[in-house]
Amino acid sequence: MQSKKNIFLIGFMGAGKSTVARYLHRQQGMNWLEMDKEIERKEGMPVSEIFRLRGEEYFRERETELLLSLADKENTVVSCGGGVPLRACNVEAMKKSGIVVFLTARPETILDRVKDSHERPLLEGHKDVEYISELLSRRMEKYEAAADVLAATDGRTPEEIGKEILKYL
Ligand code: S3P
Repeated sequence: MQSKKNIFLIGFMGAGKSTVARYLHRQQGMNWLEMDKEIERKEGMPVSEIFRLRGEEYFRERETELLLSLADKENTVVSCGGGVPLRACNVEAMKKSGIVVFLTARPETILDRVKDSHERPLLEGHKDVEYISELLSRRMEKYEAAADVLAATDGRTPEEIGKEILKYL
């Protein structure tokens, strides 16, 4: 499972997946793939527009398609969209080519990190702790089941988290 030394960062929106991936890329020399950005590039529009024009299911299909295409990657950190672990086939694809790291954060921390952004269609109009807690708890079982390793992010720097994750490779 770990022979290719890829890292899949999973977790809720605002858990810090992109920030930790950027650290592992810039300071530790790993290749970096940002799933949302890659899908946006292929589709020629932002995630919010994909949701609006094509619907969530279409976006979920693109996520699965992209993950399956990553099977041959090595030394790569993949920052996954927050919904990726919800599909069993996605979890299977990740486990085949790397370790799955669940970045956790308290709902208050998540709110603080996402409050000024408008890139996440699922949170538009719901930027409050109650909504985030509710969606997070609905997803928690899937996140935990997908994870090989958990790393808490509240109050920690990308460097601290990144170095902790590298120990598991
Ligand atoms: C989603 C998370 C987003 C993006 C889309 C849906 C989700 O990615 O893929 O808006 O279902 O949790 P981030 O987790 O990178 O914000």
